[in-house]
Amino acid sequence: MNTQELIKIEDDYFINTFTRQPVVLDHGEGVRVTDIDGKEYLDMFAGIAVNALGHNHPKLVKAIQDQAEKLIHISSIYYNEPALIYAKKLIDKTSFDRIFYANSGAEANEGAIKLAIKYTGKSEVISTIESFHGRTSMTLAATGHADYQEPFKAILPNGFINVEYNNIEALKEAVNENTAAIIVEPIQGEGGVNVPDIEYLKEIEKICNENDIVFIVDEVQTGFGRCGTLFAHELFDVKPDIMTMAKGIGGGVPMGGILATEKVASAFVPGDHGTTFGGGPLVCAAANAVLDAIDEENILDNVNEVGEYFMEELKKLDKEIIADVRGKGLMVGLELTKPGAEYVDKLREAGFLINCTAGNVLRFVPPLTITKADIDEFVKALDEIL
Ligand SMILES: Cc1ncc(COP(=O)(O)O)c(C=O)c1O
Repeated sequence: MNTQELIKIEDDYFINTFTRQPVVLDHGEGVRVTDIDGKEYLDMFAGIAVNALGHNHPKLVKAIQDQAEKLIHISSIYYNEPALIYAKKLIDKTSFDRIFYANSGAEANEGAIKLAIKYTGKSEVISTIESFHGRTSMTLAATGHADYQEPFKAILPNGFINVEYNNIEALKEAVNENTAAIIVEPIQGEGGVNVPDIEYLKEIEKICNENDIVFIVDEVQTGFGRCGTLFAHELFDVKPDIMTMAKGIGGGVPMGGILATEKVASAFVPGDHGTTFGGGPLVCAAANAVLDAIDEENILDNVNEVGEYFMEELKKLDKEIIADVRGKGLMVGLELTKPGAEYVDKLREAGFLINCTAGNVLRFVPPLTITKADIDEFVKALDEIL
């Protein structure tokens, strides 16, 4: 079947939820993906900041293959070695004490909010406008987008307050004796790659400590090296009570998780939360391979070096249409003075995959293995197209 025939199957049979780019991708290698017609693209999007190691990474593929031959799924009723090994390996690298394995970012956030509610016995959660935390009813209530919430207002839980991002006074005003948790992205992704002031997270930590509020960082998009440190909150020198993760954790296999301090984690007892698939051997084998590769292949150094170079090159583009260049590591946004959708199309036609978020921010979240030569190729094309 050709591209048009395949896409028609979605039109005819899928529940209509996504606006997709009109390409059917077939295979990938490193930072390149190829569609069914053999056209190659430089992947500056990495499956929405997921393919941290790029495509067809030999160690990741081998880890998945080897594990698939042994055991794919056993449920949460039994122990499996990859999940146990991974928990210790990851926690040793962070300020947290305990892990819960989930399957997606939304599910991780849902569990994190439940944990904060159970720990504090309180009922309100503060999140930020333009944030993104997921599409389940509780995470949708936390996601500060009135347009996403509007059709489902009738079933959204009470107790969620959305305040302006990077505005500590707005947060202080919203805090009250019922506040259980404050949840923020260290850098907002879907909201337009918004980097807060350096003291913002520190101030949140202080408010939380003073009022016995649970501080949750949503690192679903920023985690696993994306911003140049293993987790982006490290850049702000804070120790949150809970961190949620997904996307890059498994390098492409669907996985998520919650990390929490001993104090907060102890609020959950058996029966409070669970999942059939979470922490399965297959995804945990993949996660082990990703974490090992981040260390063994000096991925963080690459993110910092190439990320800085990328931002410098973008800042050199002298175009009236560019309103701002911002980001950290390999999470970069180019704000335009007009809607960005047409540039996504033009770049795709020229062989580059990107996306546009918040209407006018071109977002670049390539594999963390990307090189300066790839960046040169991309920036040249972007320059011509803009
Ligand atoms: C910061 C953040 N949190 C949560 C989510 C939801 O993750 P998922 O789509 O895996 O449910 C996303 C997805 O883009 C995200 O960027």
